[in-house]
Amino acid sequence: MLPSIRRIGILTGGGDAPGLNAAIRSVVKTAILRYGWQVIGFEDGYEGAILGRARELGLADVRGLLVRGGTILGASNRADPFHFQHPQLGDSQPSDHSRTLLATLDRFGVDALVVLGGEGSLTIAHRLHQLGLRVVGVPKTIDNDIRGTTQSIGFDTAVTTATDAIDRLHTTAESHHRVMLVELMGRDAGWIALHAGVAGGADVILVPELPFALERIVEVVERRRSRGRHFTIVAVAEGARPAGGEAVFERTGPLPYQRKYGGIAVVLQQQLGTLLPNEVRAVVLGHLQRGGTPTPFDRALATALGAAAVDTLAAGDHGVMVAVREHPAGRATWGVVRVPLAEVAGGPRLVPLDHPLVHAALGMGISFAVPDEERIGG
Ligand code: F6P
Repeated sequence: MLPSIRRIGILTGGGDAPGLNAAIRSVVKTAILRYGWQVIGFEDGYEGAILGRARELGLADVRGLLVRGGTILGASNRADPFHFQHPQLGDSQPSDHSRTLLATLDRFGVDALVVLGGEGSLTIAHRLHQLGLRVVGVPKTIDNDIRGTTQSIGFDTAVTTATDAIDRLHTTAESHHRVMLVELMGRDAGWIALHAGVAGGADVILVPELPFALERIVEVVERRRSRGRHFTIVAVAEGARPAGGEAVFERTGPLPYQRKYGGIAVVLQQQLGTLLPNEVRAVVLGHLQRGGTPTPFDRALATALGAAAVDTLAAGDHGVMVAVREHPAGRATWGVVRVPLAEVAGGPRLVPLDHPLVHAALGMGISFAVPDEERIGG
């Protein structure tokens, strides 16, 4: 029988996402006010939990956090305890420091850990759980690519920012009769491009799940011109790639965090520029999608998931991620469920080709520029 919980740890792993601070606030307030527990915040993701960089978080520390972007704890998408190197530990090469992490948690008197993370951090959480740690995951990433949840903290804000960018591009694209390519984040998944593309009324949406044909984009621009529309907006996911071709990387490396997508919009600008009479311009939205104040939805989601993570530990459950699903009882639009961390590990959640938004987009005349659009019902 495990000892009862008196003190929990919390960390924010991977890249930051709007709503993380709201989730930290929710975990801290629920732990203190509902259960009388103490909370220790570890800094810079798993790095602080290995090296013992931590501080107690009280009610005063989370005041005003609901609206604040980023994470007060700091984040790191490089600190994997199973493959970690730091001068403080005297390693000459990366090695397994998972036991160092467990010893650090013991030293801080932490009985259980809440990990706010994306696919990578939650996979690590799963491995730590297998070593005996009581851990609960909370899904966050603007990419929305975590298995087991229909939405992750930060996605709604990123889509809002991306949609606003597409709205703004419309007026200038129309004035100058330009083809505007807007490159959006999302790594291997096209969720942001799909949602913002539909919400912003893009003419073409390019996602990694549907490799594109350049000539299809040209056809869309020409078809629009024949109808008196002399501009075109293309929403491009950073991981989009041509059929039979490769994605574009800003940099690569042997480790997952060293592989950074980026540059597809500029490549397409050059290629389309030689094929079209219009001026073609590329805009890379980049980290603007990760910054700033979370939307009301992300604040509410972060509050619900943060509280659910603490309630889960209090109920004696662990080794799970708290997740969003269509409400099982149909009493509300969404509800919170628990999903085994084992189900979360195992790769990103991609846009399924039969997703209702793909179908709706095709109905709006939006093109995915795939070689054979009839394959996806277009
Ligand atoms: O996973 C979130 C994300 O913003 C991706 O959309 C993007 O490819 C990546 O992180 C960028 O990482 P970094 O901030 O390390 O450049």
